[in-house]
Amino acid sequence: MPIARIMDNSDIEYVIRTLSKEDLDDVMALHDVMLEALEEPSFFRKPSREFIEKIISEAEMSIGITVEEKLVACRITSIPGDITNNRGIELGIPVEDLKKTAHFEGTIIHPEYRKLGLGKKIIKANIAMIDNTDLRHIVATCHPDNYPIVKTFLDNDFVIKKLKKTYGNMLRFFMHRNRDANNTKEDNEKTIVDHIDYETQMKLLDDGLVGVGIEKTDNGYSIIYSEK
Ligand SMILES: CC(C)(COP(=O)(O)OP(=O)(O)OC[C@H]1O[C@@H](n2cnc3c(N)ncnc32)[C@H](O)[C@@H]1OP(=O)(O)O)[C@@H](O)C(=O)NCCC(=O)NCCS
Repeated sequence: MPIARIMDNSDIEYVIRTLSKEDLDDVMALHDVMLEALEEPSFFRKPSREFIEKIISEAEMSIGITVEEKLVACRITSIPGDITNNRGIELGIPVEDLKKTAHFEGTIIHPEYRKLGLGKKIIKANIAMIDNTDLRHIVATCHPDNYPIVKTFLDNDFVIKKLKKTYGNMLRFFMHRNRDANNTKEDNEKTIVDHIDYETQMKLLDDGLVGVGIEKTDNGYSIIYSEK
């Protein structure tokens, strides 16, 4: 079902719509195209076809963007419910709220459609859809060096709560968006750390700070940490 239609300057019409089981082949093909072009293999762990099939058949919370019927982007969202698989547990989401938690699995933009703002649009559209339900929390993981995704999550009220290896040996920020949280932390003292200084960030997170912002530097970017 279409959620929105976007026109860009070249008159291309992008349709944002909910994904269903019928889209499974296209979603898996988009994963393959993305993985082939991926500059850093540790940015993305390919999920199994069975996993994606289960998510898009059960939850109806995953969305895609099509151009003339071709799938050029997808944002896969699961509702884990089951307490044992729920990443919200380690991020301190209260037990009674675990059923109100969504997991952001992968966000993929076809390599030929990158840097056009589609990543931002599909994430915003998915958050709006989730905020329109009883779900209150979104949990996401991403590699700290994957600037566009870290930036987009932080711009959309996610905070970084952990930095650790997962999925075997892949380094990930664990991010949490609580739609009821007050994320205006302007008055709090800020600590700014180069995003590749993993050790300092792990220590700050262990000390109870959270990552709340991002800023470009001469040679990369830094993450802004603040008290909760
Ligand atoms: C990460 C990804 C989804 C971003 O999608 P996108 O549509 O290209 O991103 P956007 O155009 O919305 O850009 C988001 C921001 O990142 C910046 N950006 C995007 N690609 C960038 C790049 N390669 N280098 C530097 N900055 C980049 C944009 O300028 C924008 O910044 P702004 O908020 O200051 O304007 C896309 O690159 C992708 O599919 N990557 C492979 C899969 C992956 O790593 N997914 C994320 C992990 S699940």
